[in-house]
Amino acid sequence: MAIRKIVKYGDPILRQKLKHTDYEALREELPQLIKDMEETCLSVHGVGLAANQIGLDYRLAVILIPESDKKNASLKRIVIINPEFEDKQGELVEEEGCLSLPGLWVEIPRATDVTVRFVDENGQPRRVRARGLLAKAFQHEIDHLDGKLFIDYADPVLKTAIKKEIKKLRPTWN
Ligand code: NI
Repeated sequence: MAIRKIVKYGDPILRQKLKHTDYEALREELPQLIKDMEETCLSVHGVGLAANQIGLDYRLAVILIPESDKKNASLKRIVIINPEFEDKQGELVEEEGCLSLPGLWVEIPRATDVTVRFVDENGQPRRVRARGLLAKAFQHEIDHLDGKLFIDYADPVLKTAIKKEIKKLRPTWN
């Protein structure tokens, strides 16, 4: 396994709409790639990582949501390949961040309930309904695959402040 370097804001690949992924063509390298993406994501306490965040042009992302009940703490792992929204409902404004803009947190609106179709790491078509953090993660990661970032949803006044904040934070990124 290997921790990959996370691409930071300013790199053009974060603004790229990623190519439809041919599961069969990727099948051999997929297990290692997913392990690397999960390890990279966990190493910086992220809840999701898209392929372009490690410099790859695949419509692929991993989602890792911490789950805990009274007895156990575990991780909900979801690998999404070629995902598409079937439905989005509700709206909630909450703070969000991104591993490609470390240290920046911005309040943006997201749907509260989503239904997503995708292919999983075994090549199986899946349909998942989600709310809460998982719904947010689906929206955040699928945006990455379309070249969108969470800051795009900030209102114009906030965008000016965000630009200044990014200038301040950039020297701390590597
Ligand atoms: Ni992100």
